[in-house]
Amino acid sequence: MLWIKDAHLVDPACGISGRGSLLVREGRIHKVVVGETLTAEAVLALLGCSDLAAVDQVDGTGMYLFPGLVDAHVHLREPGQEEKEEIRSGARAAVRGGFTSILVMANTQPVIDSRALVEYVRLAGERAGKARVYPVAAVTKGMAGKEITEMVDLKDGGAVAFSDDGKGIQSAETFRLALEYAKLTGCPVISHCEDDSLAGAGVMRKGEHCARLGLKGIPASAESVMVARDALLAGETGGRLHIAHVSTKESVQVIRMAKKAGVDLTAEVNPHHLLLADEDVPLTDTSYKVNPPLPSRADQEALLEGLLDGTIDMLATDHAPHTWEEKARPFAEAPFGINGLETALAAVWQELVAKGKLTPEKLVELWAVNPARRFGLTGGTLAEGSPADLVLFDPARRERVTAETRESKSHNTPFLGRELQGFPVMVWVGGKLVVKDRKVLD
Ligand code: DOR
Ligand code: ZN
Repeated sequence: MLWIKDAHLVDPACGISGRGSLLVREGRIHKVVVGETLTAEAVLALLGCSDLAAVDQVDGTGMYLFPGLVDAHVHLREPGQEEKEEIRSGARAAVRGGFTSILVMANTQPVIDSRALVEYVRLAGERAGKARVYPVAAVTKGMAGKEITEMVDLKDGGAVAFSDDGKGIQSAETFRLALEYAKLTGCPVISHCEDDSLAGAGVMRKGEHCARLGLKGIPASAESVMVARDALLAGETGGRLHIAHVSTKESVQVIRMAKKAGVDLTAEVNPHHLLLADEDVPLTDTSYKVNPPLPSRADQEALLEGLLDGTIDMLATDHAPHTWEEKARPFAEAPFGINGLETALAAVWQELVAKGKLTPEKLVELWAVNPARRFGLTGGTLAEGSPADLVLFDPARRERVTAETRESKSHNTPFLGRELQGFPVMVWVGGKLVVKDRKVLD
């Protein structure tokens, strides 16, 4: 049993924001009391227990208590590229970053397109015993963009969504069929919107900064034309669509229109697109190379506005680990991807929440409540009876991001070496303590 006291509890789904206590019994949130201080006697009575020694007590003074965050976009590299990330290392990095549930993408080697592979990912996640690992299965076999996978079977194996993320599905007809078939499973299709004919061999956002660096550009339209296509197809089929890593102002406009028209559509933004722009990209640092590429300042304003007005439903890291050797290649040749699980929350806290651009309540809505709802997951709330997936968050904690202190096997983040403020200090999954004093427990 657990008694977390005097923390600032936040859960907009239950209308909770205030100082109070949270009690855990048998792995579940047993009682939430806000606005009053509980006595030990009251706690024992609520827990139906006579011995205070049987109750772990945590002083949350000066801290926030959030529902465990849910990250809808994570790349672990198992099977096939374990040198970048394993399911175990990724599940550990997740909880250290405040994420108690993660959706993991199918672009492994081999691609997660069979029931056996979906089950492998799910079971490896369970064995790791840290963040809850939910497999996303591929939309097309081998992610070749042609033949749709056995979606019902994949769902029965544990898939919670379908995506060829990492690649756009170029054929509108294939994507239309995917939305139709996915309706049989009730799962959303997550679209990586990228038109190859427009993106070409580009490596950063097309524009003035790209031209100055002498690099090949990817126009904003490479994303937004496919967002429009997919929104129309979702409207026509009645399928459930989720747009990954929205990075352009035109995409935000299209999503806003589609939602007004009643399309079953949600969308996410990655912290790096909100916080870093094309003009920040140094030619010598490939940790800024990501797909979709870092946008313009005007795009960033539209993305934030979209988050605040409900056009964009969630934040998601798009944690994309790559080895140092691969990222040491010249900018044009290095792989796309930013490692996000252990830095994303702190970066968003420091740059948006601490600066008053996003409230803690909105943060929890975007990174716990909404993703849990959209993908039908347990958790993401402090509602009584829910699994005790919890994050005790210290808004004042400052830390330098170093390779040595990290759980991820890769360190490809523009924040490496920088100091950030606002970190989770204790994390529980299903009532089990998995992070203590910033360290992942074994
Ligand atoms: O930057 C990216 N990296 N974007 C993607 O869509 C895929 C990801 C990866 O798998 O490395
Ligand atoms: Zn993607």
